[in-house]
Amino acid sequence: MEGFIDIHSHILPQLDDGSSSMEQTLRMLKIAYDDGIRTMIATPHAHDGRGACDKEVMEQKLKDVKEAIKDTYPGMKLYLGSEIYYSHDSIKKLNDKKYPAMADTKYVLVEFSPMAEFRYIKNGLQEFILDGFNPIVAHVERYYYVVKDLERVDELIQMGACIQVNAASITGEFGKEYQGITKKLIKNNFIHFLSTDAHSDGNRAPRLKKCVDYLTKKYGEEYISEILIHNAEKLLLNQYI
Ligand SMILES: [Fe+2]
Repeated sequence: MEGFIDIHSHILPQLDDGSSSMEQTLRMLKIAYDDGIRTMIATPHAHDGRGACDKEVMEQKLKDVKEAIKDTYPGMKLYLGSEIYYSHDSIKKLNDKKYPAMADTKYVLVEFSPMAEFRYIKNGLQEFILDGFNPIVAHVERYYYVVKDLERVDELIQMGACIQVNAASITGEFGKEYQGITKKLIKNNFIHFLSTDAHSDGNRAPRLKKCVDYLTKKYGEEYISEILIHNAEKLLLNQYI
């Protein structure tokens, strides 16, 4: 299978703790392409505490990468987004166009501290919704107080949030605990997006093959299409999922 859409990746060079150079970015894109990914949303960390840079800088980097791959990977589409670390002024930053939303849509990828209280996460997501955004919870498996009770995941979905998990959590590369949690999320059909959250061409490369093989065997190609293609297509069209 190919034509996958990866909505969470740190492929833009020298912006955050992701790719450290254009050379590394190109190696990452080769890995992604070889694993069947044909569309990527670059989501640099938008986190003032970690020296988030402006949207204009991100846009320029994306342009540079697009230029660098236009002959080698003409079939690869790249978009800009960001992984917003929730804080009291996240929405102001979005509205002031300092942080990019996902591919110029109303979707936003939102991250929290792993030990954030459930109420804090729920209220934070609600703020985005009230302001007209569609929040996607980045790697939900990491938030202890959300996944300790799966009804809470459902509560976030019912409120209007989307759920993203990392492929490496499903394959067990982040440990048995995350693997167990993601299995339960799959069984409850709580996942909207499966992504690489790639940071490098090494340990955290944009690989999907192992995860796709596993999920195809267990749940079939239709499920893969839903969480790796169709829902992301709706996102790119700014449609509700
Ligand atoms: Fe990330």
